[in-house]
Amino acid sequence: MGWGKQAIRWWNRNKKIMFNYTTLEESKLDFVEIAPASELPNGERLFVDLGDKPIVIFNIAGQLFAIGDVCTHDDGPLGDGLLEGSNVVCPRHGAEFDVRNGKAMQMPAVIDIPAYPIRVKDGNIFVGIPK
Ligand code: FES
Repeated sequence: MGWGKQAIRWWNRNKKIMFNYTTLEESKLDFVEIAPASELPNGERLFVDLGDKPIVIFNIAGQLFAIGDVCTHDDGPLGDGLLEGSNVVCPRHGAEFDVRNGKAMQMPAVIDIPAYPIRVKDGNIFVGIPK
């Protein structure tokens, strides 16, 4: 029967959606203070560990984006990868992910990475982590 494959497709689709935390309601997030915004000027990156979650925050042309710092292809670190537009390129095998939403855009990765919402309040950067 085809139910097994359908269930896997449903699970993958919903799992991918869950990785993009930028779309979660604020009531389902805890906003964690990271650093003064002045420590992340345009074109720079900031690496932080929130609990067991390695996260990299980019300042791209004045806009901030936070993603998980682990490639879904082979668990390599992503944060030092080149930026091509809004995509970060994994330094190990070239997979690309959109930093705006965590979407896997280029093989060999097919699974999205987490993307987290960012707020700047009173000059400080906050990252939203799911409760
Ligand atoms: S570990 Fe990132 S592409 Fe292989």
